[in-house]
Amino acid sequence: MRKAPAIFFAILAILGTSSLPAAEQTLVERAIHVCNACHGEGGVSASPAYPKLAGQPALYTQEQLKKFRSQGRSDSSPQGYMWGISALLDDATITGLAEYYAEQKAVPGKAGSPKLMAQGKQIFEEGVPAKGIPACTQCHGRNGEGASVFPRIAGQHAEYLVRQLNEFNTKLRPHGTVMKDNVVKKMTADEMKAVAAYLQAK
Ligand code: HEC
Ligand code: HEC
Repeated sequence: MRKAPAIFFAILAILGTSSLPAAEQTLVERAIHVCNACHGEGGVSASPAYPKLAGQPALYTQEQLKKFRSQGRSDSSPQGYMWGISALLDDATITGLAEYYAEQKAVPGKAGSPKLMAQGKQIFEEGVPAKGIPACTQCHGRNGEGASVFPRIAGQHAEYLVRQLNEFNTKLRPHGTVMKDNVVKKMTADEMKAVAAYLQAK
């Protein structure tokens, strides 16, 4: 019987010990540097072109990264920015990244005009009952902090929030059926602007 080459045992040794998670951890740490170039230090981006990732529930981030990787979220911005990079991430790295961002502290943005914020607060907490628009708190949490697959919307850039609300009205963001069918269809541009202004500062 031929003897297995030494490299075989070396690989077994790597797989059999904790050095694999360590290697995975290094991958995650390297990736974070790349992500933060756009998404900001600790996932708190300065520009509304890039969503904040800090404090986002891990499961939501994980799901979105997989949706970019399978090219399911397909407007021009994720196509240009997220398709390429997500293709390089394996499931374990995605999980590690999602856990890292979930642990970062969310930082709210600037407040808008008091009138707009008051209108936004009402939509966030009560919805628009006359039009059957549900309160955002029902799914996104009492403080917009999100949970599981429901994203944190508190503290997010208003411009990004409005962009996504409009996006649910197209085929470019095919997931989030509840947002499509129950929320955005009946919302006016002014209502979107108000709720986004309120959430940015929350
Ligand atoms: C070159 C800039 C750039 C880099 C680098 C980048 N992103 Fe993004 N990312 C974007 C843009 C732009 C969007 C918003 C896409 C949209 O408008 O739908 C986005 C969206 C996201 C979203 C969706 C957020 C949400 O609230 O739905 C996640 C999650 C994300 N990126 C994670 C990452 C991770 C993790 C990395 C590193 C592996 C990374 N990004 C690297 C530009 C970038
Ligand atoms: C019935 C549950 C439900 C309600 C009510 C709801 N949402 Fe959502 N929302 C979701 C889910 C689920 C997603 C994630 C969809 C996905 O995976 O793409 C989402 C995604 C979003 C996003 C995209 C966030 C991001 O980071 O890209 C925004 C913005 C948003 N919701 C705003 C609102 C606002 C504003 C309201 C209230 C007017 C609201 N939602 C009410 C379930 C809900």
